[in-house]
Amino acid sequence: MPRFSSLRDFSLLCLGLALLHTRSFVMAVNPIIQTRFTADPAPMVWNDTVYIFCDHDQPGAATGFNMIDWRLYSTTDMVNYVDLGSPLALTAFSWASYNAWAPQTIERNGKFYMYVAAGQSNGNMAVGVAVSDTIEGPYTDPIGKPLVATSTGNIDPTVFIDDDGQAYLYTGNPVLYYVKLNEDMISYSGVVQNVSLTTQGFGARPNFLYNAEKPTTFEEGPWFYKRNGLYYLMYAADCCPEDIRYSTSNGPTGPWQYQGLIMGEQGGCLGNHAGVIDYKNKSYFFYHNQGNSGGGQYDRSVCVEQFEYLSNGLFPTIEMTYTGAPQIGTLNPYQRVEAETMADSFGVQTQPCSLGTQNIDALEDGYWLMVQGVNFGRGSGARNWTASVASNTNGGTIELRIGSLTGTLIGSLTVPSTGGWQNWQTLSTSVSGATGVQNLYLVFRGEPGFLFNVDWWSFSK
Ligand SMILES: *[C@@H]1O[C@H](CO)[C@@H](O)[C@H](O)[C@H]1NC(C)=O
Ligand SMILES: *[C@@H]1O[C@H](CO)[C@@H](O)[C@H](O)[C@H]1NC(C)=O
Ligand SMILES: *[C@@H]1O[C@H](CO)[C@@H](O)[C@H](O)[C@H]1NC(C)=O
Ligand SMILES: *[C@@H]1O[C@H](CO)[C@@H](O)[C@H](O)[C@H]1NC(C)=O
Repeated sequence: MPRFSSLRDFSLLCLGLALLHTRSFVMAVNPIIQTRFTADPAPMVWNDTVYIFCDHDQPGAATGFNMIDWRLYSTTDMVNYVDLGSPLALTAFSWASYNAWAPQTIERNGKFYMYVAAGQSNGNMAVGVAVSDTIEGPYTDPIGKPLVATSTGNIDPTVFIDDDGQAYLYTGNPVLYYVKLNEDMISYSGVVQNVSLTTQGFGARPNFLYNAEKPTTFEEGPWFYKRNGLYYLMYAADCCPEDIRYSTSNGPTGPWQYQGLIMGEQGGCLGNHAGVIDYKNKSYFFYHNQGNSGGGQYDRSVCVEQFEYLSNGLFPTIEMTYTGAPQIGTLNPYQRVEAETMADSFGVQTQPCSLGTQNIDALEDGYWLMVQGVNFGRGSGARNWTASVASNTNGGTIELRIGSLTGTLIGSLTVPSTGGWQNWQTLSTSVSGATGVQNLYLVFRGEPGFLFNVDWWSFSK
């Protein structure tokens, strides 16, 4: 399995990713999102689906973060991700105007609570909370002020509800704080507590490049949860570049026992931020790096690896890869598939669709997307492809290919002008030769400039 263990290897990885885009066999799952730069992933399992809340690097920020909203994606197979748009933006908070940083969302009594870090006008970061009746949002600020705002370091909130119903929120860089949230999830009891950052609890710091006064490895990005009776606190450590380390405890507020490294300094980012879930009896570790084309310090991208806990519940070390997690099952093409569903893509962007959900847009000649593990079934397979399309120019053609960008052409749809970028028409074309489980490529063709938008597609037999 290809791995990278240093910054130099990472540039080889980037080359590898470029090559993969012209190769027909190995699938590059990482980074999992190509349509935007995303970071600080907070995975959440809900309704048998994995949702990934993350923040969002606006491109072209050469010298600092330019982050104004949060993004949401979902998957049921760990390979094909659906863009669910932006559930929350800084504009939802009257008290915040910059640095839309790391989120995490949790459900309680049928409502969804999204905790984020955001910048206040006094120059300090604070933890805010936003609430929604649906996981997709939109989320709104129920309290009109920050939830946790000590003088410094209120970033990277992580939240967990224990078996006895007590919810905990940890946050911090480089101090580590926690509060006990009330049952309403939008207030807390008592004072903001400091976690004592002992070397017993958090390990002796080997890297003194930044914050040399700090004796332990903890830096930021806490991720708090419980599994099989053991409490875990995972965090970005050894700033900088950061690695991911963790500590465990028999109680929700410590004392913590340092357990060491999970993921080394890889992938080229000064920072990292991990999130962990169990899904369909497998364990997954989300993080970010600079792995997308055009990636950089302020243009990060979310990745995932599958892993297995050791028999005593501890972590193995996990390496960044571009093969990512194996696919669970296959994708059914005989139902409505949102066009913003993809395992890999080139050039494709997404935007809110006037009919609801998102659509893919700004498609130009040579852009493409790939949906992995599409199950056309046995026998003669698919006979017909239907898509909802819109174009304000002369349109173009969607080529349907299997196996690779230059693989067998199973059909093509001519998209005419529809008189507007949100004037949707449902069009069909016949297809042949699509049987079995295939990687499906949608390749967009036409004259220079923007061609058309696509909202959804579906095959029929
Ligand atoms: C749960 O998932 C199913 C299948 O995707 C979907 O039909 C249903 O609407 C979802 N329920 C909620 C509450 O989101
Ligand atoms: C928490 O730690 C910070 C930084 O060391 C310190 O300024 C603050 O007084 C501490 N707060 C409490 C309640 O101990
Ligand atoms: C997970 O494991 C349990 C117990 O072994 C099993 O009953 C269940 O079917 C498994 N679920 C999936 C999705 O594989
Ligand atoms: C393709 O399927 C769609 C939706 O079922 C149907 O409306 C259309 O007539 C079919 N087209 C062809 C060429 O069979």
